[in-house]
Parts: sequence; structure tokens; C-alpha cells
Amino acid sequence: MDDRAGAATATAGAAGRFATRIFSGIQPSGGLTLGNYLGALKRFVQKQEEGIEAIYCLVDLHAVTVWQDPARLRANTREAAAAFLAAGVDPARSLLFNQCQVSAHAELAWIFNCVARMGWLGRMTQFKEKAGKDREAASVGLFAYPNLMAADIMVYHATHVPVGEDQKQHLELTRDIAIKFNHDFGTDFFPVVEPIIEGAATRVMSLRDGTRKMSKSDPSDMSRINLADDADTIAQKIRKARTDPLPLPESLAALDGRPEARNLVNIYAALADLAPEAVLGEFAGRGFDAFKPRLADLAVAVLAPISARMAGHLSDPAGIDRLLGEGAARAEAIARPILEATFAIMGMIRSRRG
Ligand code: TYM
Repeated sequence: MDDRAGAATATAGAAGRFATRIFSGIQPSGGLTLGNYLGALKRFVQKQEEGIEAIYCLVDLHAVTVWQDPARLRANTREAAAAFLAAGVDPARSLLFNQCQVSAHAELAWIFNCVARMGWLGRMTQFKEKAGKDREAASVGLFAYPNLMAADIMVYHATHVPVGEDQKQHLELTRDIAIKFNHDFGTDFFPVVEPIIEGAATRVMSLRDGTRKMSKSDPSDMSRINLADDADTIAQKIRKARTDPLPLPESLAALDGRPEARNLVNIYAALADLAPEAVLGEFAGRGFDAFKPRLADLAVAVLAPISARMAGHLSDPAGIDRLLGEGAARAEAIARPILEATFAIMGMIRSRRG
């Protein structure tokens, strides 16, 4: 996890002739987790506070690559929007909307379906994991998923994409698509994006198994902390989190082979805005009986105000829908000319008026 290197490339890299613009997305396929918060949402707010133009999207078209219950999808989309607002994303400064309201995403995704190669997509580890053994039964959408992700980003000419570690391979594919499109049409129309993967929590792991990612789709609710969990539930999940009998060591290297211990240290560090080394500096020599209550207190102190604000936003679903609609209209105004220019580069006639 070399966060500094990532950040350095981000500033030195993609900008070129393109103004710095951030895009990122979260699937509304379930309640958001601590992993989504530390790996993504918290950092989205930081980027906004740095004054960088940012576009944030609830990617419902991605969510439906596996079947979603319609009522749940609607509720999850509003809950995710509420989480963005509660975490500090300010719709007056950053764009916030849901993907299906800006059809340019799906249109550019089709173009990228024709640019990306089957072999590239077949190598995506997330597809292999999600499709499991029976690939023939996976939806075509699940296979083509990274092309839509590339379209999400490039339809805004975004230059930087803050994400957790698990999205790195998809962003490499996004870069490959930009390079191939530019090459095939003899242009430099699409920027080659830079991922921003930084901080102590780029990969928050399950509380039950330190070798698996914390995920909203894990069947065990005890494996994750949900942003909507109340204080007692958060404390109980941390108390029951799997650990080992050893005390915490002095150096990070001594956490090798102790994935659960490393994960809890990283979570503490990210919640407290400390380096993991500083956390060890404070707790070295002490066992989890001492560490876990402190972690639980910290997690509750950070998350309880967020979940309270979420509940406030969720009491006005019509307000959330209105806000998403307004965000979508502003997003559309940026995306449409870029899509039209793409069609023009490709020789497609667009003569319809009105
Ligand atoms: P999704 O919905 O799985 O996750 C949203 C964001 O949360 C991060 N994340 C984590 N970070 C640290 N630890 C974890 N355990 C953890 N779990 C999730 C993810 O890395 C991500 O940043 N394909 C994307 C959504 C997407 C997107 C995009 C992202 C669609 N289009 C364009 C960026 C740009 C996804 O499924 O994320």
C-alpha cells in the first residue's frame, strides 16, 4: 500500500491538457459499509475540501448487473445518497446523482464495448470472483461492467479517480480503453486517468476473516460495519471481531501473517487520521482486550453522527430524489457535448434537432 506514490503520480500524471476533475462511483447494491466509507466516501469529502471539481455517482446501472429487488434498489439508492450527504459531500460544490438519469453513460459504454477486447475483460479478477464457477450463467452486463465504468469516467473527461484498492484493475482497463480509442481514431480526445488509492484503509477487510474484503454482499452481517448500524451494534461487532492471542507489536512488519490484527490497526488509523505506525506506537505490547474497546469507542464517535445525519436525510425521500435529479441535469450538461464529440470523431451522423 504505497499511498504516497499513488498521490504523487496523481498530481504529476493525467492532467495534461485536461483540467483536473474527479469522478467516482458507488454501487447502491446494499447498505454502505465502513470499507466504502474509509476507502471512498471519506476521501471524496477530502477532495471536495481541497477544492477539486468532483462528480460523484450512485451507479445503479452497475448494480443491476446482478439481479436487484426493485424496492430494495430504490431504498438502497436513497440510502447511499443520504450517506454521501451525511459524510459531507455538498451537492452545491460536488455533483451527486444516480447513473441511470444520465443516459450518456450507457451510450458511451456501448462505444467502449466496441473498443475493449474480450480478452481484456476476461482477465478481470472481479468478474471471475463474482461470476464464480458458472460463467455461462453470468449476465452479459457483469462481463462488460468495466466498460461502463470507463464510460462513467470518460464521459466527463475526468482525470483522477479516488477508489479503494479493489478497483485498481478496472482503472487500468479504463486507461487501456482511452489509449486504444485515441490510437484507433488518431486523436488525444480522452484523458488517460490516474487512480488515487491512498490512506491506511484502501482495503478494509472482513471482521470475520482478515483475508477477505469487507463487503456489502458478504452473507454474514457480523463481517462488516454498516454506516447505518447503531452504536451498540458497532461495539458488539468489534468486540466479536476475529483476532489472535498475541499482543500488538511495535512495528508494522511484525503484523505480517496476522491479517486480522493488521486490519483492526488499519481501521483505527484511518478513523483517527493517524499512520498505522502511530497506532502501534500507542498500543504496542497490549492485547486486544485493551485495543478493541478503544477501537469501538473511536468507531462509534466517528460513525454515530454520520448515521444520525443519514436518518435525517432519509426522512425526506422526495428531497433526496429532487437533489439527485438536479445533480443529473448538471451532469448531463457536461456529458452530452463530450458524447457528441465522440460520435463526431467516429463519423456518426447526428443531424436530429429538438
Ligand atoms: P463499490 O460499490 O464496490 O465500492 C465503492 C467504493 O468503495 C471502495 N471499497 C472499499 N475500500 C476499502 N475497503 C473495502 N473493503 C472496500 N469496499 C469497497 C471501492 O474501492 C470503491 O471505491 N465499480 C465500482 C463503482 C464504480 C466506479 C465507477 C468507481 C462504477 N463506476 C467509476 C470509480 C469510477 C464499485 O463496484 O464500487
